[in-house]
Amino acid sequence: MAQAFNVEGFRQKARARLPKMVFDYLEGGADDERGLARNRAAFAHWTFQPRRLVNVATRDLSIDLLGRSQSLPFLVAPTGLNSVFWPKGDVALARAARRAGIPFILSTAANASIEELADQAGGELWFQLYVVHPGLAEQLVKRALAAGYRTLVLTCDVAVNGKRERDLRSGFGVPFKYSPKVVWDALRHPRWTMSLLSGGLPQMANFANQDADNIELQAALLARKMDASFDWDALQRLRELWPHRLLVKGIVHPLDAQHCLDLGADGVVLSNHGGRQLDDACSPMMALGAVQAQTRVRPLIDSGFRRGSDVVKAMALGASGVLLGRPLLYGLAAAGEEGASAVLDIFRDEIDRTLANLGCASIRELTPEHVARVPG
Ligand SMILES: Cc1cc2nc3c(=O)[nH]c(=O)nc-3n(C[C@H](O)[C@H](O)[C@H](O)COP(=O)(O)O)c2cc1C
Repeated sequence: MAQAFNVEGFRQKARARLPKMVFDYLEGGADDERGLARNRAAFAHWTFQPRRLVNVATRDLSIDLLGRSQSLPFLVAPTGLNSVFWPKGDVALARAARRAGIPFILSTAANASIEELADQAGGELWFQLYVVHPGLAEQLVKRALAAGYRTLVLTCDVAVNGKRERDLRSGFGVPFKYSPKVVWDALRHPRWTMSLLSGGLPQMANFANQDADNIELQAALLARKMDASFDWDALQRLRELWPHRLLVKGIVHPLDAQHCLDLGADGVVLSNHGGRQLDDACSPMMALGAVQAQTRVRPLIDSGFRRGSDVVKAMALGASGVLLGRPLLYGLAAAGEEGASAVLDIFRDEIDRTLANLGCASIRELTPEHVARVPG
């Protein structure tokens, strides 16, 4: 297959290697998938206003993120079930992140446990928390603390599971159901099938060997049967439980962002879960200005970033860093750790070129004046 020069190239490679039901799990959005399209379209609302005759012979892509310096302005977003894309998918992604010097965020729904990942991957590890029920959340938080994680990311945009019709149609779920359609799909993708068989069927590792409710919990997690009663009081209790950095992911409303900070969160991640939850939730790029105006704090952001220029626009408009979801999963599904690293390299290269041609020598020097809102 042709060499991949951009994220779309890796998307094509991932589509070729994965069975349709697995690719659809990776790719799909909620309902009519308008949110997916809107997340991409949002970037076209801004053009660049390049400055000329600036010395851009060297460019600096590093940022300060929550008081720490890192060499690139992005992070690996938390994604569940990474081992359906590549054996030991979480470890592969975390190693690619470590090589690039960026944080990796382990999902509650990961296939590597909190402890296993800390042991095998190293680097800067963050833990993403889904609250399936309060007692379980408390156990996970304590395990993350004991295993050395120092940043906790609470995801708050999954009160119930988004209606992902691709998954409903294909029957994708845990435990896997072996319908004739699934077996046929697997047979037509032998490279994937062989690697899955060699790596073993993915488990929700954070719950393996927990207790008798294990399978039920795993199913609840995959179906995103969350504790829908989790509210501001619960956030306050979580704040008291977790002594280190706490971020809240899934915010799009400026007042919610403010409320998180008022309760002691260290930051928020503007996100609509990559269009997988509430189809017509506004795109985080469209919320960025209002959130910044309200809070005076630079938020993290994700959903729809596929080009280095997208990252540059968000940083110019006041984001503190960008979480990458599907792009890294395309790389992972195409070629494991090497594929994820290649996608990170593509982002690095595209950001570097964008800065040079924009007449800005450093990510830290980007300002809203580097972009202009397209009228209408
Ligand atoms: C396959 C897949 C699984 C995901 N699983 C999780 C998860 O377990 N926890 C979470 O907070 N977000 C999860 N997300 C959302 C991502 O963290 C992120 O918000 C989203 O992918 C960003 O959009 P993008 O894919 O367009 O980059 C998942 C996204 C995908 C595509």
